[in-house]
Amino acid sequence: MKELLENAVDAGASEIKLVINDAGKALIQVIDNGKGMSQTDARMSFERHATSKIKNIDDLFRIKTLGFRGEALASIAAVAQVELKTKKAEDDSGTYIEIENSIVKKQEPVACVNGSSIAMKNLFFSVPARRNFLKSNAAEMRHIIDEFIRVALSFPDIFFSVVSNGQEVFHLERGTLKQRIVQILGDSLNPKLVSVQEKTDYMNIYGFVGKPETAKKTRGDQYFFVNKRFIKSAYLNHAVMNAFQQMITPDSFPMYVLFIDLDPSQVDINVHPTKQEIKFEDEKIVYAFVQAAVKHSLAQFSITPTLDFELDPLIQQLDAVSKPFTEEKKAEAASSSLYKTFTQKNQAHFIERENKSELKHWRTLYEGPKPDPGNQAVESEQTSGLLRTSAGIELLEDKSLVQILNTYIIAQTGRGFILINQQSAHERILYERYIAAAKGRPVAAQRSLFPVTLQLSTQDAVLLGDLIDDLSELGYIIEPFGKDAFIIQGTPGDVLQGNEKNAIENMLEQFKHFTSDMKFSKREKLTRLLAWQHAIKPGTTLTEREMKSLVEELFACSQPNTTPSSRPTYIEFKKEYLETLFGK
Ligand SMILES: Nc1ncnc2c1ncn2[C@@H]1O[C@H](COP(=O)(O)OP(=O)(O)OP(=O)(O)O)[C@@H](O)[C@H]1O
Ligand SMILES: [Mg+2]
Repeated sequence: MKELLENAVDAGASEIKLVINDAGKALIQVIDNGKGMSQTDARMSFERHATSKIKNIDDLFRIKTLGFRGEALASIAAVAQVELKTKKAEDDSGTYIEIENSIVKKQEPVACVNGSSIAMKNLFFSVPARRNFLKSNAAEMRHIIDEFIRVALSFPDIFFSVVSNGQEVFHLERGTLKQRIVQILGDSLNPKLVSVQEKTDYMNIYGFVGKPETAKKTRGDQYFFVNKRFIKSAYLNHAVMNAFQQMITPDSFPMYVLFIDLDPSQVDINVHPTKQEIKFEDEKIVYAFVQAAVKHSLAQFSITPTLDFELDPLIQQLDAVSKPFTEEKKAEAASSSLYKTFTQKNQAHFIERENKSELKHWRTLYEGPKPDPGNQAVESEQTSGLLRTSAGIELLEDKSLVQILNTYIIAQTGRGFILINQQSAHERILYERYIAAAKGRPVAAQRSLFPVTLQLSTQDAVLLGDLIDDLSELGYIIEPFGKDAFIIQGTPGDVLQGNEKNAIENMLEQFKHFTSDMKFSKREKLTRLLAWQHAIKPGTTLTEREMKSLVEELFACSQPNTTPSSRPTYIEFKKEYLETLFGK
Protein backbone atom coordinates (compact mmCIF):
# COMPACT_ATOMS: atom_id res chain seq x y z
CA MET A 1 0.00 0.00 0.00
CA LYS A 2 2.81 2.36 0.85
CA GLU A 3 4.47 1.66 -2.49
CA LEU A 4 1.24 2.21 -4.42
CA LEU A 5 0.58 5.48 -2.63
CA GLU A 6 4.12 6.64 -3.33
CA ASN A 7 3.78 5.80 -7.00
CA ALA A 8 0.62 7.87 -7.16
CA VAL A 9 2.42 10.78 -5.52
CA ASP A 10 5.34 10.41 -7.92
CA ALA A 11 2.85 10.48 -10.80
CA GLY A 12 1.90 14.00 -9.76
CA ALA A 13 -1.63 13.17 -8.62
CA SER A 14 -3.71 15.81 -6.82
CA GLU A 15 -6.29 13.27 -5.71
CA ILE A 16 -5.58 9.81 -4.34
CA LYS A 17 -8.16 7.32 -3.21
CA LEU A 18 -7.35 4.23 -1.25
CA VAL A 19 -9.77 1.33 -1.07
CA ILE A 20 -9.17 -1.43 1.46
CA ASN A 21 -11.14 -4.61 2.00
CA ASP A 22 -10.54 -7.03 4.81
CA ALA A 23 -7.59 -5.04 6.17
CA GLY A 24 -5.87 -5.29 2.80
CA LYS A 25 -5.92 -9.06 2.69
CA ALA A 26 -8.71 -9.10 0.10
CA LEU A 27 -8.03 -5.78 -1.63
CA ILE A 28 -5.71 -2.80 -1.64
CA GLN A 29 -6.56 -0.40 -4.42
CA VAL A 30 -5.03 2.99 -5.13
CA ILE A 31 -6.73 5.29 -7.62
CA ASP A 32 -4.96 8.45 -8.69
CA ASN A 33 -5.45 11.26 -11.18
CA GLY A 34 -1.76 11.44 -11.99
CA LYS A 35 -0.02 11.35 -15.32
CA GLY A 36 -0.85 7.73 -16.15
CA MET A 37 1.14 5.34 -18.34
CA SER A 38 1.28 4.58 -22.01
CA GLN A 39 0.50 1.06 -23.15
CA THR A 40 4.20 0.09 -23.31
CA ASP A 41 5.05 1.71 -20.01
CA ALA A 42 2.13 -0.01 -18.35
CA ARG A 43 3.44 -3.37 -19.51
CA MET A 44 7.00 -2.44 -18.54
CA SER A 45 6.10 -1.21 -15.08
CA PHE A 46 5.85 -4.77 -13.75
CA GLU A 47 9.34 -5.72 -14.90
CA ARG A 48 11.93 -5.77 -12.17
CA HIS A 49 14.23 -2.76 -12.23
CA ALA A 50 11.93 -0.97 -14.63
CA THR A 51 11.76 2.57 -13.41
CA SER A 52 11.02 5.74 -15.31
CA LYS A 53 12.46 7.77 -12.48
CA ILE A 54 16.17 7.32 -13.06
CA LYS A 55 17.49 7.95 -16.52
CA ASN A 56 21.22 8.23 -15.91
CA ILE A 57 23.84 7.82 -13.22
CA ASP A 58 23.61 11.41 -12.08
CA ASP A 59 19.91 11.02 -11.34
CA LEU A 60 20.88 8.51 -8.68
CA PHE A 61 22.44 11.30 -6.69
CA ARG A 62 19.52 13.69 -6.89
CA ILE A 63 16.51 11.53 -6.31
CA LYS A 64 13.46 13.74 -6.02
CA THR A 65 10.84 11.04 -6.37
CA LEU A 66 9.81 8.60 -3.68
CA GLY A 67 10.49 5.62 -5.92
CA PHE A 68 13.72 4.89 -7.74
CA ARG A 69 14.37 1.15 -7.67
CA GLY A 70 11.72 -0.14 -10.04
CA GLU A 71 10.99 -2.97 -7.65
CA ALA A 72 7.65 -2.28 -6.09
CA LEU A 73 5.22 -3.26 -8.82
CA ALA A 74 7.28 -6.31 -9.78
CA SER A 75 7.25 -7.50 -6.16
CA ILE A 76 3.55 -6.88 -5.79
CA ALA A 77 2.77 -8.75 -9.00
CA ALA A 78 4.65 -11.72 -7.61
CA VAL A 79 2.50 -12.08 -4.50
CA ALA A 80 -1.00 -10.93 -5.45
CA GLN A 81 -3.46 -10.70 -8.30
CA VAL A 82 -2.96 -7.25 -9.76
CA GLU A 83 -5.25 -5.24 -12.01
CA LEU A 84 -3.98 -2.04 -13.54
CA LYS A 85 -6.05 0.50 -15.43
CA THR A 86 -4.19 3.52 -16.66
CA LYS A 87 -4.45 6.33 -19.18
CA LYS A 88 -2.41 9.34 -20.10
CA ALA A 89 -4.30 12.57 -20.77
CA GLU A 90 -2.98 12.74 -24.33
CA ASP A 91 -4.07 9.18 -25.22
CA ASP A 92 -7.53 8.32 -26.50
CA SER A 93 -7.87 5.08 -24.67
CA GLY A 94 -6.24 3.52 -21.68
CA THR A 95 -4.68 0.15 -20.93
CA TYR A 96 -5.97 -2.68 -18.79
CA ILE A 97 -3.54 -5.30 -17.51
CA GLU A 98 -4.24 -8.30 -15.33
CA ILE A 99 -1.26 -10.05 -13.83
CA GLU A 100 -0.93 -13.01 -11.48
CA ASN A 101 2.19 -14.79 -10.18
CA SER A 102 4.17 -12.35 -12.32
CA ILE A 103 2.41 -13.66 -15.44
CA VAL A 104 0.33 -11.33 -17.61
CA LYS A 105 -3.15 -12.85 -17.90
CA LYS A 106 -4.78 -10.16 -19.92
CA GLN A 107 -3.81 -6.94 -21.63
CA GLU A 108 -6.30 -4.87 -23.61
CA PRO A 109 -7.28 -1.30 -24.40
CA VAL A 110 -9.94 0.11 -22.11
CA ALA A 111 -12.01 3.25 -21.84
CA CYS A 112 -11.08 4.94 -18.55
CA VAL A 113 -10.37 8.28 -16.91
CA ASN A 114 -6.93 9.88 -16.89
CA GLY A 115 -4.62 8.53 -14.23
CA SER A 116 -4.07 5.08 -12.80
CA SER A 117 -5.91 2.59 -10.70
CA ILE A 118 -3.96 -0.34 -9.33
CA ALA A 119 -5.80 -3.05 -7.45
CA MET A 120 -3.94 -5.69 -5.53
CA LYS A 121 -6.22 -8.59 -4.71
CA ASN A 122 -5.92 -11.63 -2.46
CA LEU A 123 -2.50 -10.91 -1.08
CA PHE A 124 -0.27 -14.01 -0.88
CA PHE A 125 -3.02 -16.12 -2.49
CA SER A 126 -0.39 -18.39 -3.98
CA VAL A 127 1.85 -18.44 -0.90
CA PRO A 128 -0.42 -19.67 1.90
CA ALA A 129 2.50 -19.89 4.30
CA ARG A 130 3.01 -16.18 4.05
CA ARG A 131 -0.69 -15.48 4.16
CA ASN A 132 -0.70 -17.18 7.53
CA PHE A 133 1.89 -14.72 8.72
CA LEU A 134 -0.47 -11.80 8.27
CA LYS A 135 -1.68 -10.55 11.61
CA SER A 136 -5.24 -10.02 12.76
CA ASN A 137 -7.32 -7.62 10.70
CA ALA A 138 -7.13 -5.04 13.45
CA ALA A 139 -3.35 -5.24 13.56
CA GLU A 140 -2.94 -5.11 9.79
CA MET A 141 -5.38 -2.21 9.59
CA ARG A 142 -3.35 -0.36 12.14
CA HIS A 143 -0.22 -0.74 10.02
CA ILE A 144 -2.13 0.44 6.97
CA ILE A 145 -3.38 3.52 8.78
CA ASP A 146 0.08 4.26 10.19
CA GLU A 147 1.63 4.17 6.74
CA PHE A 148 -1.22 6.10 5.21
CA ILE A 149 -0.91 8.88 7.77
CA ARG A 150 2.77 9.27 7.02
CA VAL A 151 2.09 9.82 3.35
CA ALA A 152 -0.95 12.02 3.96
CA LEU A 153 1.01 14.28 6.33
CA SER A 154 3.78 14.85 3.83
CA PHE A 155 1.47 15.87 1.01
CA PRO A 156 -1.20 18.22 2.35
CA ASP A 157 -1.77 19.56 -1.16
CA ILE A 158 -3.09 16.18 -2.26
CA PHE A 159 -6.66 15.16 -1.51
CA PHE A 160 -6.84 11.73 0.12
CA SER A 161 -9.74 9.47 0.81
CA VAL A 162 -9.59 6.05 2.47
CA VAL A 163 -12.48 3.64 2.25
CA SER A 164 -12.27 0.51 4.34
CA ASN A 165 -14.90 -2.21 3.85
CA GLY A 166 -17.19 0.30 2.19
CA GLN A 167 -16.85 2.97 4.86
CA GLU A 168 -14.90 6.16 4.38
CA VAL A 169 -12.47 6.38 7.29
CA PHE A 170 -10.42 9.36 6.08
CA HIS A 171 -11.51 12.25 3.89
CA LEU A 172 -8.70 14.77 3.76
CA GLU A 173 -9.34 17.93 1.75
CA ARG A 174 -6.36 19.71 0.30
CA GLY A 175 -4.99 22.42 2.56
CA THR A 176 -2.02 23.71 4.48
CA LEU A 177 0.25 21.47 6.50
CA LYS A 178 -1.33 22.79 9.67
CA GLN A 179 -4.80 21.93 8.44
CA ARG A 180 -3.65 18.47 7.45
CA ILE A 181 -2.11 17.85 10.88
CA VAL A 182 -5.32 18.90 12.57
CA GLN A 183 -7.41 16.77 10.18
CA ILE A 184 -5.40 13.73 11.13
CA LEU A 185 -4.27 14.23 14.71
CA GLY A 186 -7.34 16.01 16.03
CA ASP A 187 -8.98 19.46 16.22
CA SER A 188 -7.92 19.99 19.78
CA LEU A 189 -4.32 20.39 18.63
CA ASN A 190 -5.16 23.43 16.55
CA PRO A 191 -4.36 26.14 19.10
CA LYS A 192 -1.43 24.18 20.45
CA LEU A 193 0.83 23.95 17.45
CA VAL A 194 4.00 26.00 17.36
CA SER A 195 5.39 26.64 13.92
CA VAL A 196 9.00 25.75 13.22
CA GLN A 197 10.62 27.36 10.23
CA GLU A 198 14.27 27.92 9.56
CA LYS A 199 16.10 28.26 6.27
CA THR A 200 19.77 28.02 5.42
CA ASP A 201 21.72 27.35 2.25
CA TYR A 202 22.43 23.86 3.46
CA MET A 203 18.98 22.81 4.59
CA ASN A 204 15.48 23.93 5.47
CA ILE A 205 13.30 22.81 8.30
CA TYR A 206 9.61 23.48 8.64
CA GLY A 207 6.62 22.02 10.38
CA PHE A 208 5.08 22.12 13.82
CA VAL A 209 5.79 21.05 17.34
CA GLY A 210 3.16 20.77 20.06
CA LYS A 211 3.33 23.21 22.94
CA PRO A 212 4.90 21.64 26.02
CA GLU A 213 1.51 21.04 27.65
CA THR A 214 0.49 18.74 24.84
CA ALA A 215 3.34 16.35 25.58
CA LYS A 216 1.95 12.92 26.27
CA LYS A 217 3.09 9.89 28.13
CA THR A 218 2.97 8.17 24.76
CA ARG A 219 5.37 8.51 21.90
CA GLY A 220 2.50 8.54 19.40
CA ASP A 221 2.58 11.66 17.28
CA GLN A 222 6.19 12.14 16.28
CA TYR A 223 6.96 12.43 12.61
CA PHE A 224 10.13 13.27 10.77
CA PHE A 225 10.28 13.65 7.02
CA VAL A 226 13.41 14.14 4.99
CA ASN A 227 12.76 15.37 1.50
CA LYS A 228 9.10 14.45 2.08
CA ARG A 229 9.98 10.92 2.95
CA PHE A 230 8.94 9.62 6.38
CA ILE A 231 11.96 8.41 8.28
CA LYS A 232 12.69 6.88 11.64
CA SER A 233 15.61 8.44 13.38
CA ALA A 234 16.37 8.06 17.05
CA TYR A 235 19.15 10.56 16.54
CA LEU A 236 16.95 13.38 15.25
CA ASN A 237 14.27 12.53 17.79
CA HIS A 238 16.91 13.11 20.42
CA ALA A 239 17.59 16.54 18.98
CA VAL A 240 13.94 17.52 19.42
CA MET A 241 13.75 16.05 22.90
CA ASN A 242 16.78 18.07 23.77
CA ALA A 243 15.15 21.26 22.60
CA PHE A 244 12.19 20.52 24.89
CA GLN A 245 14.43 19.89 27.87
CA GLN A 246 13.14 21.39 31.09
CA MET A 247 9.82 22.28 29.49
CA ILE A 248 8.36 18.82 29.80
CA THR A 249 8.88 16.03 32.28
CA PRO A 250 11.55 13.55 31.24
CA ASP A 251 9.09 10.71 30.77
CA SER A 252 6.81 12.53 28.36
CA PHE A 253 6.95 12.90 24.62
CA PRO A 254 6.31 16.09 22.69
CA MET A 255 4.26 15.98 19.53
CA TYR A 256 6.04 16.99 16.34
CA VAL A 257 5.64 16.90 12.58
CA LEU A 258 8.88 18.18 11.07
CA PHE A 259 10.12 18.33 7.53
CA ILE A 260 13.73 18.63 6.58
CA ASP A 261 14.60 19.43 3.01
CA LEU A 262 18.16 19.26 1.82
CA ASP A 263 20.13 18.49 -1.29
CA PRO A 264 19.43 14.85 -2.17
CA SER A 265 23.17 14.30 -2.58
CA GLN A 266 23.49 14.88 1.17
CA VAL A 267 21.33 11.88 2.08
CA ASP A 268 21.55 8.21 1.31
CA ILE A 269 18.07 6.71 1.21
CA ASN A 270 19.21 3.35 -0.02
CA VAL A 271 20.30 1.89 3.30
CA HIS A 272 17.04 0.11 4.07
CA PRO A 273 14.47 -1.66 1.85
CA THR A 274 11.54 0.35 3.17
CA LYS A 275 13.53 3.58 2.74
CA GLN A 276 12.64 4.52 6.31
CA GLU A 277 16.18 4.71 7.47
CA ILE A 278 18.57 7.10 5.86
CA LYS A 279 22.11 8.29 6.23
CA PHE A 280 23.08 11.93 6.28
CA GLU A 281 26.33 13.02 4.79
CA ASP A 282 26.85 15.14 7.90
CA GLU A 283 24.51 14.15 10.66
CA LYS A 284 25.99 16.43 13.30
CA ILE A 285 25.00 19.50 11.32
CA VAL A 286 21.48 18.20 10.89
CA TYR A 287 21.21 17.43 14.59
CA ALA A 288 22.39 20.86 15.64
CA PHE A 289 20.11 22.51 13.15
CA VAL A 290 17.00 20.62 14.23
CA GLN A 291 17.67 21.29 17.88
CA ALA A 292 18.33 24.98 17.34
CA ALA A 293 15.27 25.44 15.15
CA VAL A 294 12.91 23.80 17.63
CA LYS A 295 14.45 25.67 20.57
CA HIS A 296 14.07 28.92 18.73
CA SER A 297 10.40 28.29 18.02
CA LEU A 298 9.68 27.29 21.59
CA ALA A 299 11.47 30.34 22.93
CA GLN A 300 9.45 32.62 20.70
CA PHE A 301 6.27 31.03 21.83
CA SER A 302 7.00 31.48 25.50
CA ILE A 303 8.11 35.09 25.20
CA THR A 304 5.80 36.56 22.62
CA PRO A 305 2.19 35.53 22.89
CA THR A 306 1.37 36.81 19.43
CA LEU A 307 2.29 34.26 16.86
CA ASP A 308 1.88 33.80 13.20
CA PHE A 309 -1.14 31.61 13.63
CA GLU A 310 -4.64 32.09 14.96
CA LEU A 311 -4.97 31.41 18.65
CA ASP A 312 -8.20 31.21 20.52
CA PRO A 313 -7.96 34.30 22.78
CA LEU A 314 -9.53 32.41 25.66
CA ILE A 315 -6.92 29.73 25.53
CA GLN A 316 -4.27 32.34 25.10
CA GLN A 317 -5.07 33.77 28.53
CA LEU A 318 -4.60 30.51 30.30
CA ASP A 319 -1.55 30.30 32.51
CA ALA A 320 -0.46 27.08 30.92
CA VAL A 321 -0.14 28.89 27.63
CA SER A 322 1.26 32.21 28.64
CA LYS A 323 3.65 30.82 31.22
CA PRO A 324 4.77 27.45 30.03
CA PHE A 325 6.94 26.73 33.03
CA THR A 326 5.69 28.33 36.22
CA GLU A 327 7.02 28.36 39.74
CA GLU A 328 4.14 26.12 40.82
CA LYS A 329 5.12 23.61 38.22
CA LYS A 330 8.63 23.69 39.54
CA ALA A 331 7.36 23.07 43.06
CA GLU A 332 5.15 20.28 41.77
CA ALA A 333 8.08 18.65 40.07
CA ALA A 334 10.24 18.97 43.16
CA SER A 335 7.67 17.17 45.27
CA SER A 336 7.30 14.28 42.86
CA SER A 337 8.65 10.97 44.01
CA LEU A 338 11.09 10.94 41.15
CA TYR A 339 12.73 14.11 42.30
CA LYS A 340 12.73 12.92 45.87
CA THR A 341 14.63 9.78 45.06
CA PHE A 342 17.20 11.87 43.45
CA THR A 343 17.78 13.94 46.53
CA GLN A 344 17.51 10.98 48.82
CA LYS A 345 20.11 9.14 46.85
CA ASN A 346 22.46 11.90 47.77
CA GLN A 347 21.93 11.34 51.45
CA ALA A 348 24.53 8.73 52.17
CA HIS A 349 22.86 7.42 55.30
CA PHE A 350 19.27 7.47 54.21
CA ILE A 351 17.50 4.44 55.59
CA GLU A 352 13.78 4.03 56.08
CA ARG A 353 13.37 2.93 59.67
CA GLU A 354 10.05 4.00 61.11
CA ASN A 355 7.99 1.74 63.35
CA LYS A 356 10.71 -0.78 63.57
CA SER A 357 9.28 -2.50 66.59
CA GLU A 358 6.08 -3.45 64.79
CA LEU A 359 8.06 -5.57 62.44
CA LYS A 360 8.57 -8.43 64.84
CA HIS A 361 6.66 -11.50 63.85
CA TRP A 362 5.50 -9.81 60.74
CA ARG A 363 4.31 -12.97 59.18
CA THR A 364 1.47 -13.21 61.63
CA LEU A 365 0.52 -9.60 61.09
CA TYR A 366 0.12 -10.04 57.44
CA GLU A 367 -2.37 -12.36 55.86
CA GLY A 368 -0.60 -13.43 52.75
CA PRO A 369 -2.20 -14.30 49.45
CA LYS A 370 -4.30 -17.43 49.51
CA PRO A 371 -2.10 -20.11 47.99
CA ASP A 372 -3.36 -21.51 44.76
CA PRO A 373 -3.88 -25.21 45.43
CA GLY A 374 -2.79 -26.04 41.91
CA ASN A 375 0.34 -24.01 42.23
CA GLN A 376 3.30 -26.26 42.92
CA ALA A 377 5.50 -23.44 43.98
CA VAL A 378 3.64 -22.34 47.05
CA GLU A 379 5.48 -24.63 49.30
CA SER A 380 6.62 -22.12 51.83
CA GLU A 381 6.69 -24.02 55.05
CA GLN A 382 7.20 -22.64 58.46
CA THR A 383 9.81 -23.98 60.78
CA SER A 384 10.79 -22.19 63.92
CA GLY A 385 11.31 -18.57 62.96
CA LEU A 386 12.07 -19.35 59.35
CA LEU A 387 10.04 -18.87 56.24
CA ARG A 388 11.38 -21.45 53.85
CA THR A 389 10.53 -20.53 50.32
CA SER A 390 10.49 -22.58 47.19
CA ALA A 391 13.59 -20.82 45.93
CA GLY A 392 15.67 -22.28 48.73
CA ILE A 393 15.81 -18.95 50.52
CA GLU A 394 15.12 -19.05 54.24
CA LEU A 395 13.86 -15.70 55.38
CA LEU A 396 14.31 -14.83 59.02
CA GLU A 397 10.89 -13.73 60.05
CA ASP A 398 11.70 -12.03 63.27
CA LYS A 399 14.19 -9.72 61.58
CA SER A 400 12.94 -6.49 60.16
CA LEU A 401 12.90 -5.59 56.53
CA VAL A 402 14.74 -2.47 55.52
CA GLN A 403 14.09 -0.35 52.47
CA ILE A 404 17.11 1.41 51.05
CA LEU A 405 17.15 4.20 48.50
CA ASN A 406 13.36 3.70 48.36
CA THR A 407 14.21 1.10 45.75
CA TYR A 408 15.53 -2.05 47.37
CA ILE A 409 14.47 -4.14 50.30
CA ILE A 410 16.91 -6.03 52.47
CA ALA A 411 15.67 -9.23 54.09
CA GLN A 412 17.82 -11.41 56.28
CA THR A 413 18.19 -15.07 55.54
CA GLY A 414 19.66 -18.01 57.39
CA ARG A 415 22.93 -17.66 55.50
CA GLY A 416 23.17 -13.92 54.87
CA PHE A 417 20.71 -11.54 53.32
CA ILE A 418 18.90 -10.90 50.09
CA LEU A 419 18.62 -7.59 48.33
CA ILE A 420 15.24 -7.39 46.62
CA ASN A 421 14.55 -5.00 43.79
CA GLN A 422 11.07 -3.78 44.69
CA GLN A 423 10.04 -2.97 41.14
CA SER A 424 11.21 -6.28 39.69
CA ALA A 425 9.65 -8.22 42.52
CA HIS A 426 6.33 -6.50 42.08
CA GLU A 427 6.51 -7.05 38.33
CA ARG A 428 6.82 -10.79 38.91
CA ILE A 429 3.92 -10.79 41.38
CA LEU A 430 1.62 -8.88 39.03
CA TYR A 431 2.63 -11.03 36.10
CA GLU A 432 1.59 -14.18 37.86
CA ARG A 433 -1.60 -12.55 39.06
CA TYR A 434 -2.46 -11.60 35.49
CA ILE A 435 -1.65 -15.06 34.21
CA ALA A 436 -4.06 -16.40 36.81
CA ALA A 437 -6.64 -13.95 35.45
CA ALA A 438 -6.59 -15.79 32.17
CA LYS A 439 -7.34 -19.03 34.00
CA GLY A 440 -10.67 -17.78 35.23
CA ARG A 441 -9.63 -15.55 38.09
CA PRO A 442 -10.14 -12.11 36.56
CA VAL A 443 -8.46 -9.16 38.18
CA ALA A 444 -11.02 -7.12 40.10
CA ALA A 445 -11.92 -3.85 38.46
CA GLN A 446 -12.46 -0.69 40.40
CA ARG A 447 -15.33 1.30 38.91
CA SER A 448 -14.33 4.86 38.11
CA LEU A 449 -16.31 7.46 40.02
CA PHE A 450 -16.61 9.46 36.87
CA PRO A 451 -16.32 7.39 33.73
CA VAL A 452 -13.69 8.96 31.55
CA THR A 453 -14.01 9.32 27.81
CA LEU A 454 -10.97 8.66 25.76
CA GLN A 455 -10.65 10.10 22.27
CA LEU A 456 -7.96 8.35 20.29
CA SER A 457 -6.39 8.65 16.89
CA THR A 458 -7.85 6.19 14.41
CA GLN A 459 -4.83 3.92 14.59
CA ASP A 460 -4.87 3.76 18.38
CA ALA A 461 -8.62 3.18 18.39
CA VAL A 462 -8.22 0.17 16.15
CA LEU A 463 -5.54 -1.18 18.47
CA LEU A 464 -7.56 -0.64 21.64
CA GLY A 465 -10.58 -2.26 19.99
CA ASP A 466 -8.43 -5.28 19.41
CA LEU A 467 -7.32 -5.46 23.05
CA ILE A 468 -10.61 -4.74 24.82
CA ASP A 469 -11.53 -8.35 25.57
CA ASP A 470 -8.16 -9.22 27.04
CA LEU A 471 -8.13 -6.02 29.01
CA SER A 472 -11.49 -6.77 30.57
CA GLU A 473 -10.05 -9.88 32.21
CA LEU A 474 -7.23 -7.75 33.50
CA GLY A 475 -9.55 -5.36 35.27
CA TYR A 476 -10.19 -2.71 32.65
CA ILE A 477 -13.82 -1.97 31.81
CA ILE A 478 -13.71 -0.12 28.51
CA GLU A 479 -16.56 0.41 26.11
CA PRO A 480 -16.54 1.71 22.54
CA PHE A 481 -18.18 5.12 22.32
CA GLY A 482 -18.61 6.35 18.78
CA LYS A 483 -15.88 6.98 16.25
CA ASP A 484 -12.42 6.40 17.74
CA ALA A 485 -13.73 7.07 21.23
CA PHE A 486 -14.07 4.89 24.30
CA ILE A 487 -15.49 5.18 27.79
CA ILE A 488 -13.35 3.92 30.63
CA GLN A 489 -15.75 2.59 33.25
CA GLY A 490 -13.20 0.96 35.46
CA THR A 491 -9.56 0.05 35.93
CA PRO A 492 -7.62 -2.41 38.09
CA GLY A 493 -7.17 -1.35 41.69
CA ASP A 494 -3.58 -0.27 41.24
CA VAL A 495 -4.44 2.47 38.74
CA LEU A 496 -5.04 5.74 40.55
CA GLN A 497 -8.48 7.27 40.13
CA GLY A 498 -8.12 10.22 37.81
CA ASN A 499 -5.18 8.60 36.09
CA GLU A 500 -7.17 6.16 33.95
CA LYS A 501 -6.68 7.98 30.68
CA ASN A 502 -2.95 8.25 31.07
CA ALA A 503 -2.65 4.62 32.07
CA ILE A 504 -4.41 3.47 28.92
CA GLU A 505 -2.63 5.82 26.56
CA ASN A 506 0.62 4.70 28.07
CA MET A 507 -0.32 1.08 27.74
CA LEU A 508 -1.22 1.49 24.06
CA GLU A 509 2.01 3.20 23.32
CA GLN A 510 4.09 0.59 25.06
CA PHE A 511 2.14 -2.15 23.35
CA LYS A 512 3.03 -0.73 19.96
CA HIS A 513 6.68 -0.82 20.84
CA PHE A 514 6.32 -4.32 22.10
CA THR A 515 4.83 -5.68 18.90
CA SER A 516 8.13 -6.15 17.18
CA ASP A 517 8.65 -9.15 19.41
CA MET A 518 7.07 -11.91 17.39
CA LYS A 519 7.54 -14.74 19.79
CA PHE A 520 4.83 -13.65 22.22
CA SER A 521 1.11 -13.86 21.78
CA LYS A 522 -0.94 -10.70 22.08
CA ARG A 523 -2.10 -11.82 25.50
CA GLU A 524 1.41 -12.53 26.73
CA LYS A 525 2.58 -9.12 25.55
CA LEU A 526 -0.28 -7.42 27.29
CA THR A 527 0.35 -9.36 30.48
CA ARG A 528 4.04 -8.54 30.53
CA LEU A 529 3.39 -4.97 29.64
CA LEU A 530 0.79 -4.35 32.34
CA ALA A 531 2.91 -6.08 34.95
CA TRP A 532 5.77 -3.83 34.03
CA GLN A 533 3.63 -0.74 33.88
CA HIS A 534 1.82 -1.25 37.16
CA ALA A 535 4.80 -2.39 39.19
CA ILE A 536 5.83 0.03 41.94
CA LYS A 537 8.58 2.24 40.72
CA PRO A 538 11.99 2.87 42.27
CA GLY A 539 11.71 5.82 44.59
CA THR A 540 8.42 4.74 46.10
CA THR A 541 8.56 4.67 49.87
CA LEU A 542 7.01 1.48 51.19
CA THR A 543 5.51 0.99 54.61
CA GLU A 544 6.61 -1.98 56.68
CA ARG A 545 3.38 -3.69 55.86
CA GLU A 546 3.79 -3.14 52.15
CA MET A 547 7.31 -4.48 52.24
CA LYS A 548 6.14 -7.56 54.06
CA SER A 549 3.35 -8.24 51.68
CA LEU A 550 5.67 -7.74 48.75
CA VAL A 551 8.22 -10.22 50.08
CA GLU A 552 5.56 -12.76 50.94
CA GLU A 553 3.82 -12.51 47.63
CA LEU A 554 7.10 -12.71 45.79
CA PHE A 555 8.00 -15.99 47.40
CA ALA A 556 4.52 -17.32 46.80
CA CYS A 557 5.17 -16.95 43.07
CA SER A 558 5.95 -19.96 40.95
CA GLN A 559 9.15 -18.36 39.79
CA PRO A 560 10.14 -15.79 42.38
CA ASN A 561 13.73 -15.23 41.33
CA THR A 562 13.25 -13.44 38.02
CA THR A 563 11.00 -10.94 36.28
CA PRO A 564 9.01 -12.18 33.27
CA SER A 565 11.84 -10.86 31.13
CA SER A 566 14.38 -12.83 33.14
CA ARG A 567 16.00 -10.06 35.12
CA PRO A 568 16.75 -11.02 38.75
CA THR A 569 14.19 -9.94 41.35
CA TYR A 570 16.67 -10.36 44.17
CA ILE A 571 20.30 -11.14 44.78
CA GLU A 572 21.48 -13.25 47.65
CA PHE A 573 24.54 -12.28 49.64
CA LYS A 574 25.82 -15.24 51.61
CA LYS A 575 28.03 -15.01 54.65
CA GLU A 576 31.00 -16.62 52.89
CA TYR A 577 30.80 -14.08 50.10
CA LEU A 578 30.61 -11.20 52.53
CA GLU A 579 33.68 -12.55 54.28
CA THR A 580 35.69 -12.64 51.09
CA LEU A 581 34.79 -9.00 50.59
CA PHE A 582 36.46 -8.27 53.88
CA GLY A 583 39.52 -10.21 52.90
CA LYS A 584 38.85 -13.16 55.14
N1 LIG B 1 0.36 5.33 -10.31
C1 LIG B 1 1.25 5.43 -11.31
N2 LIG B 1 1.11 6.40 -12.26
C2 LIG B 1 2.01 6.51 -13.26
N3 LIG B 1 3.08 5.71 -13.41
C3 LIG B 1 3.27 4.73 -12.52
C4 LIG B 1 2.37 4.54 -11.42
N4 LIG B 1 2.81 3.49 -10.71
C5 LIG B 1 3.93 3.05 -11.30
N5 LIG B 1 4.21 3.79 -12.39
C6 LIG B 1 5.35 3.58 -13.31
O1 LIG B 1 5.82 2.28 -13.10
C7 LIG B 1 7.20 2.28 -12.78
C8 LIG B 1 7.49 1.16 -11.81
O2 LIG B 1 6.92 1.44 -10.54
P1 LIG B 1 7.63 0.85 -9.26
O3 LIG B 1 6.94 1.35 -8.06
O4 LIG B 1 7.76 -0.61 -9.47
O5 LIG B 1 9.08 1.48 -9.34
P2 LIG B 1 9.58 2.92 -8.93
O6 LIG B 1 8.50 3.71 -8.32
O7 LIG B 1 10.23 3.51 -10.10
O8 LIG B 1 10.69 2.55 -7.85
P3 LIG B 1 10.46 1.87 -6.40
O9 LIG B 1 10.60 0.41 -6.57
O10 LIG B 1 11.57 2.46 -5.59
O11 LIG B 1 9.10 2.27 -5.95
C9 LIG B 1 7.48 3.66 -12.23
O12 LIG B 1 8.82 4.04 -12.46
C10 LIG B 1 6.51 4.51 -13.04
O13 LIG B 1 7.06 4.86 -14.28
MG1 LIG C 1 7.40 3.02 -6.69
